[in-house]
Parts: sequence; C-alpha cells; structure tokens
Amino acid sequence: PRTVGVSVTVNGEAHRLDLDPRVSLLDLLRLHLDLTGSKKGCNQGACGACTVLLDGERVNACLVLAVSCDGQEVTTIEGIGTPEALAPIQDAFIEHDGFQCGYCTPGQILSSVALMDEAARGLPSVIDVDAPPCSAAELSDEEISERMSGNICRCGAYPGIRKAIHAVAS
Ligand code: FES
Repeated sequence: PRTVGVSVTVNGEAHRLDLDPRVSLLDLLRLHLDLTGSKKGCNQGACGACTVLLDGERVNACLVLAVSCDGQEVTTIEGIGTPEALAPIQDAFIEHDGFQCGYCTPGQILSSVALMDEAARGLPSVIDVDAPPCSAAELSDEEISERMSGNICRCGAYPGIRKAIHAVAS
C-alpha cells in the first residue's frame, strides 16, 4: 500500500516514519513507537483516554491523522515526569485519589497539564463568557469540571481529580 513519510518529535525525540495515510496519531504512538501510555478507549473522540499535547494543545490522538502531524511536537504521558520523579500533577493525583482503575489517567493528566497552561495564558471562562479570565489558582470546581469534560472516568474519580488540580494550581 501507498505510504507517506512523516517526521514527528515525540517527548523530545525525533522520529521519521513511512505510514499508511490512514494511521491515527494514537496508533502511531502505540503501534509504531511502542508508547502505550496513551489509551484507546472509544477510538472515536468521545472518552479522552487518548489525550496528548500536539504543539502544546490537547487533542484526541484517535481523531488526528498521523501524517497531518508532520513537523509537529507531541507530548504523551511518557514525557510527563519520570518513574523516579513524578510531575507535581501526578503526585497530586496519587495524594488526592484522582483515579481508581487508572485507565483514563494518562489522558486526565495531559488534560490537566493543558488546563493549567490555558489558565496561565488567560483563556476566558468556558462557563461564563462575561467573566474575566482567571488564574489557575482561581479556577472553580465548575470551571475545572467543564474544562475536563472531554475526559471520562467510568470509576467516577472526578472529586479527586478536581482536588488534585486545585492542589497543583494553588
Ligand atoms: Fe480517543 Fe476515546 S480513544 S477519545
């Protein structure tokens, strides 16, 4: 079958691959680079388990064609913290019971990282268009829930996830 060359940098490491143009970014990561931290839940953009950062913005990797990422930078859960020294948001998820089974956690962590970055950049409220932008430390539970609504947790660990985000953002 016809393949297309794609160059991507994943967690700071440059890769050049020849791929079937139908391959998703999620399958590039999991099947071609053996980075299996990003999970495949629904494979149709509904659950958020596959959330990664693409040039710093969160995306559902199952919905992105790998060949469209040519020249871009991807950050996955493998690029957040290290086994010896977790990132503060990862420690906070442990401390505040932000997970049970853990399947959605990589996506939740990447979304949390993006959420705090969005707040730092002063993006406007997503629940009140008239409200002034607030810092990460000022995010309400409601605002966090809305900004994290693309990441489903079937164990229902949402209160712990919000606590973890509050703890790191404060
Ligand atoms: Fe991508 Fe569910 S696997 S959103």
